[in-house]
Amino acid sequence: MSHHARFTGKVVLITGAAGGFGRRAAERFADEGARLAISDVAADRLDEVAQELRRAGAEVVAEAGDVSQESTAERLVAAALGAYGRLDVALNNAGMAHPYLKLPDIPSATAEKVIAVDLMGVFYAMKHQLPAMERQGGGVILNVASVAGLVGAPLLSVYAAAKHGVIGLTKTAAVEYARRNIRVNAICPSFADTAMVKDELAHMRGGPEAALERVLGAIPMRRLASVDEIVAAMLQLCGPESAFITGVALPVDGGLTAA
Ligand SMILES: NC(=O)c1ccc[n+]([C@@H]2O[C@H](COP(=O)([O-])OP(=O)(O)OC[C@H]3O[C@@H](n4cnc5c(N)ncnc54)[C@H](O)[C@@H]3O)[C@@H](O)[C@H]2O)c1
Repeated sequence: MSHHARFTGKVVLITGAAGGFGRRAAERFADEGARLAISDVAADRLDEVAQELRRAGAEVVAEAGDVSQESTAERLVAAALGAYGRLDVALNNAGMAHPYLKLPDIPSATAEKVIAVDLMGVFYAMKHQLPAMERQGGGVILNVASVAGLVGAPLLSVYAAAKHGVIGLTKTAAVEYARRNIRVNAICPSFADTAMVKDELAHMRGGPEAALERVLGAIPMRRLASVDEIVAAMLQLCGPESAFITGVALPVDGGLTAA
């Protein structure tokens, strides 16, 4: 794939950058000229990713932390401003699922944790990103939701609640900041080939192969997304070609939510 450098000199913040979509997104943004501020709760993996990105020539600051703590959001924005003096793009990607269980079987502590990470984490992030972007005259926020933010997700009720909530934050902030030159969108992937999904499939009824069959049955294209397909859509929504797109929750789902 040929890269025109859409993000030359842009400062891009990414949470959950030590694995999955976040890590690949960091590589792709760097390929297109971005300067990075990356974060993850897995401090060791985050350091490895930062070092690899630097070896490939990228400018990177890394700040480990749990997105469910407001101080993490604050430190990460401060790290971007401290290193580069600005924040152009924020990809709020860190997230977790919970074990596949009917609603009454989900331990309340698990539900609270998923809401804290997947919903409050995005709230804290935006709370600290929006004022920084407003002060400099603009910016772009992309929150990683899920198809479970658009339709029900059997056995993932609390994850679905958190992701529906992320879309509510996204649409509202998009309207609040439309005249401040800040775009706010959400991306809604269906199952992609990541550690999170492999782990989920492994724990589903009937074993991973039968589980994969059932999952693919709901996807008109009958396949998982590749990580690159999701990340390509992320960069597109954050790039200048999407200048008039704000407040959307874009499914990147092989037709799942259309069926
Ligand atoms: N993989 C999929 O099919 C899929 C589908 C829809 C949505 N999503 C969403 O995409 C995002 C990324 O998921 P992924 O598939 O790349 O998962 P992943 O598990 O491969 O990577 C997620 C990263 O986030 C980090 N993380 C987890 N909890 C954190 C916390 N509390 N604070 C900071 N970092 C934390 C992990 O350490 C990991 O590096 C998540 O928001 C997820 O809900 C994934």
